[in-house]
Amino acid sequence: MSKQILVTGGTGYIGSHTVVELQNAGFDVVVVDNLSNSQIEVLDNIEKITGIRPAFEQFDLADSVLTDAFFQKYNNLDAIIHFAAFKAVGESVQKPLEYYRNNLNSLMNLLAGMKKYDIANLVFSSSCTVYGQPDVLPVTEATPRKEAESPYGNTKAICEDIMRDFCKVNEAVNCIALRYFNPIGAHESGLIGEFPVGVPNNLVPFITQTAAGLRDELSVFGDDYDTPDGTAVRDYINVVDLSKAHVVAINRLIDDKKKANYEFFNIGTGEGYSVMQLVKAFIEVNHVDLKYKVVGRREGDIEKIWADTSYANNELGWKSEKTLEETLASAWKWEKNVRGIQ
Ligand code: NAD
Ligand code: WQD
Repeated sequence: MSKQILVTGGTGYIGSHTVVELQNAGFDVVVVDNLSNSQIEVLDNIEKITGIRPAFEQFDLADSVLTDAFFQKYNNLDAIIHFAAFKAVGESVQKPLEYYRNNLNSLMNLLAGMKKYDIANLVFSSSCTVYGQPDVLPVTEATPRKEAESPYGNTKAICEDIMRDFCKVNEAVNCIALRYFNPIGAHESGLIGEFPVGVPNNLVPFITQTAAGLRDELSVFGDDYDTPDGTAVRDYINVVDLSKAHVVAINRLIDDKKKANYEFFNIGTGEGYSVMQLVKAFIEVNHVDLKYKVVGRREGDIEKIWADTSYANNELGWKSEKTLEETLASAWKWEKNVRGIQ
């Protein structure tokens, strides 16, 4: 019988791509999402890609009663992948309690359910945001975390600590935190992708919306950083490659290959690209015009970060595969599909 995986936040950006990869790998998937930042139609598109419609339950995972009722109904789960969270850095500064409530309570409700209902395995979405601006690059898993710059970033650090402490006294529970660098791009079908509500904060959705004519021009935030071309540098990881890392992590837990019952890994490409390199690559690979201008730095931004992925490569046996060009082509294909552009 197929192993059954709960994917929280499974109609969201990274969750939907991971549902596809899990189904392709033969897992039986149950999605929980309250649709606070995603659309139910995503399930139709997952079904178009894989031929399988995942089971779906809509409720708020920060509600302990509803989460407990879910575990009573789905009593055969082998593992959980926990994507559900609020993720807008700027909004988290304005609404700290909403962010702490949502992101911390949902994790704690899941951990309580794992203990009560004997579910052994959890993979958690963490973020390179826990490193802040590192002193030494690239960052390894031994790089110390820095104090968070935002309530959002703090929820990721606190969630990691909650898992570490919980695993210490619950030997039957296993958690892997994946620290994502900057996920971008979309599924090659163009059927699922990132669908930000309102004006995008992140670079690639802003670029694709500008190319599609929804925005007048891209503002490049700062060109006076200590980087080769003065614009900030990030490690942009293809969302399908990232999703595959979750399948690998789930197999590691189910096959009991782990070294400890709480582990964490950097999930990136190992390459840093600047904002201007990315903008130019987008224009070149997609043959589109893109208006942009350099403006001042965005408050709270770090200058540069990229991952040392050797621990994930060697220990998980996972490696990012797609080129930046392929990834930027997939992002544009998705945006065109959404906007009905030929
Ligand atoms: P997303 O907003 O597209 O997906 C999250 C999903 O969770 C949404 O569908 C939302 O409706 C759902 N959700 C939120 N709170 C919920 C709750 N209490 N109960 C039920 N459903 C709830 O975000 P994403 O980009 O796919 O990110 C997924 C995870 O990865 C998040 O934990 C995020 O913090 C983390 N992450 C994202 C990035 C990034 O740049 N996208 C980088 C690092 C880490
Ligand atoms: C990338 C680069 C911007 C928009 C955020 C979160 C982080 C993680 C990923 C979840 C930066 C520049 C952007 C624009 C620009 N999320 N930029 N013009 O800031 O690296 O990380 O998302 O964990 O926690 O902080 O990603 O895509 O916003 O920015 O010049 O209109 O693009 O200044 O250098 P960031 P981003």
